[in-house]
Amino acid sequence: MSDFKSSFWAFFIGAIVLLGVIFNLWMLIANGKVRAVSQDNTTGHIWDEDLREFNNPLPRWWVGLFVFMCLFGLIYFALYPGLGFYPGALGWTSHKQFREEMQQGNQEMAPVYAAFAGKTTEQLAQDPQAMKIGDSLFMNNCAQCHSSDAKGSAVGGFPDLTAKSWIWGGTPQAIHDTIVNGRTPVMPPQGTVLGTPDDVKNVANYVLGLAGQPNDAVRAAQGEAKFKTVCAACHGADGKGNPLLGAPNLAKGAKWYMRQPTLDGITAQINGGNGNDHGIVRFMPAWGNKFTPAQIDILTAYVWGKGGGVEPAAATPVPVAADGASAAAPAVSDAASQ
Ligand code: HEC
Ligand code: HEC
Repeated sequence: MSDFKSSFWAFFIGAIVLLGVIFNLWMLIANGKVRAVSQDNTTGHIWDEDLREFNNPLPRWWVGLFVFMCLFGLIYFALYPGLGFYPGALGWTSHKQFREEMQQGNQEMAPVYAAFAGKTTEQLAQDPQAMKIGDSLFMNNCAQCHSSDAKGSAVGGFPDLTAKSWIWGGTPQAIHDTIVNGRTPVMPPQGTVLGTPDDVKNVANYVLGLAGQPNDAVRAAQGEAKFKTVCAACHGADGKGNPLLGAPNLAKGAKWYMRQPTLDGITAQINGGNGNDHGIVRFMPAWGNKFTPAQIDILTAYVWGKGGGVEPAAATPVPVAADGASAAAPAVSDAASQ
């Protein structure tokens, strides 16, 4: 209801519901009455000279059942929200119930998660129990966009999380930050920045070249300088992207493009920026408020361990597991075999 600025609709709904119940009650009572009858148990109404109406009131038990249901409805509306303008005497809301259930669930799960406390991303990624939890968290919350094998969807523009083709970075810290805060990529339209439609076409051909796609070599050569002044600000002079800005690597091959790596697709991206998908700007939602820190650590490890995980920066000490074995990161070849 929060979309409505006035309370009109709340009262409108409440009035329809209440009048509906009252109307029903009246109909039931009016039709349930045994009418005055003549000797032969007809109502006395006669049509077509000899067609008479038999007195046949609704069965009492049936009327009683319906009246009971109407009363039940009224009591329900007194206690629970249902009338639009009145929140109900119990103050129940689905949000409140959800929060309470979540809290209870988190408390019950606390001992399970306690076992993972203090473990690094690398260690969690090798812990089968943690990864089982990670899998169910991922399937329930992430798979609808990134698909159940985490390989994303080129059609929807949702990135593959299983390979070392990160937009925002693949270290445990970068993945953790992505999940907690979400990510909103920004590429403003560049058509007018580049100049004429001819300039756009030249640069698009240059990008096709970066992606290893067939292109017009003469145009590509003409577009190179513009790319290196305009696009390089975010995508880098070599087109290899910048994880701090979420600007993807354009030189890693067409396979890794989120959008169509064709002349039309790239031209649309240049002219429309990242809002070019029918005005829809896709972003990675933030999950910091939806999961406990332990759940986020497990999700981070789950994504990191899918094959694309990048070693943490060298400065971070690599903790050693209790049995003395250092937690190994997934090898690059894992990405190919998945
Ligand atoms: C509503 C769709 C949606 C859901 C749900 C979603 N994501 Fe994303 N995610 C995206 C989009 C879109 C991007 C790419 C953002 C961009 O283009 O920069 C993304 C990017 C990412 C990235 C960064 C990839 C990279 O290359 O740097 C990670 C990691 C990620 N998501 C993990 C998750 C996890 C874990 C979940 C579940 C908790 C999740 N996502 C749920 C849409 C979603
Ligand atoms: C302000 C920074 C910025 C500038 C300048 C910029 N881009 Fe981008 N570009 C981005 C971001 C961020 C994305 C990711 C958009 C998304 O995920 O929705 C992107 C995405 C793209 C893509 C799609 C990549 C894919 O995976 O499908 C192409 C192609 C592209 N840019 C080309 C260019 C070209 C050519 C220029 C210069 C004319 C340019 N960009 C200038 C930030 C920038």
